[in-house]
Amino acid sequence: MADYEEYKKDSKPLTLFNDETGQSFQIPVLKGNDGPDVLDIRDLYKETGMFTYDPGFTSTASCKSSITFIDGHKGILRHRGYNIKDLAANSDFIEVCYLLLHGELPSSTDKEKFEKVITDHTMLHEQLVYLYRGFRRDAHPMAIMVGVVGALSAFYHDSTDFSDLNQRMIASHRLIAKIATIGAMAYKYSIGQPFVYPKNNLSYAENFLHMTFSVPTEEYKVNPLIANAIDKFFILHADHEQNASTSTVRLAGSSGANPFACIAAGIASLWGPAHGGANEAVIQMLEEISDIKNIPEYISKAKDKNDSFRLMGFGHRVYKNYDPRAEVMKKIAHDVLKELNKLEDPLLKIAIELEKIALQDQYFIDKKLYPNVDFYSGIILKAIGFPTSMFTVLFAIGRTVGWISQWKEMIEDPINKIGRPRQLYTGSQSREYQQLETREKKSIFKWLWKSK
Ligand code: ACO
Repeated sequence: MADYEEYKKDSKPLTLFNDETGQSFQIPVLKGNDGPDVLDIRDLYKETGMFTYDPGFTSTASCKSSITFIDGHKGILRHRGYNIKDLAANSDFIEVCYLLLHGELPSSTDKEKFEKVITDHTMLHEQLVYLYRGFRRDAHPMAIMVGVVGALSAFYHDSTDFSDLNQRMIASHRLIAKIATIGAMAYKYSIGQPFVYPKNNLSYAENFLHMTFSVPTEEYKVNPLIANAIDKFFILHADHEQNASTSTVRLAGSSGANPFACIAAGIASLWGPAHGGANEAVIQMLEEISDIKNIPEYISKAKDKNDSFRLMGFGHRVYKNYDPRAEVMKKIAHDVLKELNKLEDPLLKIAIELEKIALQDQYFIDKKLYPNVDFYSGIILKAIGFPTSMFTVLFAIGRTVGWISQWKEMIEDPINKIGRPRQLYTGSQSREYQQLETREKKSIFKWLWKSK
């Protein structure tokens, strides 16, 4: 506990009193540098014999971290103290990667060196091509991402010993560099085009566009405005504190798993429609709405308790205000569609109108449901030419630096313990074992077959 002493300064412990037993327990209160105070309940079970119950971790801090700060009520997101809007307006993705990984914005010399290190790692081991060929052509690119990133541990043995700082850094650089190549190759594979090798004279975002959209038969010129939009997209997705995929990476890493396997676990978690898969789901929803006149019907569906439909791209576990990333994303959407002469895009019009109607609706006001980062991002990616199945892949590319920075921070935390939540047990109490011939004839399988 000694290393938490500094966080206890100026705080009075909270006393928990059990009326039945008369037992009391003092809970130390930790004060971070920003955000709500945190109850330090690590000794609760030892002292009281009780666990806490918190499904979805709505009130539980699983770690201490100095990477990202969010104030969901004020709509604030900061990386290492810098406001996301300032970073998106003034930095490029490489600078943000450096900031997340090392804690400071780079000097010009350090930026140059860091960019070179990342660029030097963008190629994949040539044998990984055979792994791609093992997938069906219609495989979802996120399925390919999970497989290929996990397989990196079988190719780069010299960076899987996480106890060695040098190996941790090499693994981090490899992941940041290779993830864009892996994502672009997943796309190329799905459309049957040859893989395109990375080019060292291009920026991170330009290179990704080049590997995704160029073909060997033609010269491909990257549109600087589109490259800038993709760069901003990566910045806006770079990290977001202890979300589901980041917590997955930390939990996987807490057992001592290698970093490539941990990031593969994070990608799997990101894939779900309640998380990174939402940008794909937003486009499907907008296409289903298909006309502005149908919006009220979908708003009603979203409000109906008996209907499982939700407005995709709306609501957030942490933001109870406008997601600051959504604000930047909305502006990028406008710029990209203008550049591509697509301002009349019907999906954009439906999205703008849907946002307007929802923000005035009492249900969304009462529940503090605002557009999140995914609401406009799909429109940008679709306009640029990405199929919807690639949307979450782009999210994963941007988020890899956040995952690896959080993983590294966890490994370097002296209080790094294997993650092992407890449970409120609701199953059968102890009962006598029954021999097969004495068991009831009633079969649950009958029901399962019928339900098919
Ligand atoms: N549409 C309609 N109602 C909603 C929506 C929505 N998009 N989101 C939440 N609600 C309602 C819920 O029905 C619930 O109502 P109740 O209190 O009457 O039961 C209330 O608002 C709170 O919702 P929860 O699901 O309890 O909130 P939680 O924090 O668990 O969920 C989540 C957050 C998963 C993001 C949710 O808002 C959602 O499903 N949104 C749509 C999917 C989406 O856009 N996901 C992307 C998230 S951002 C990201 O991952 C990058």
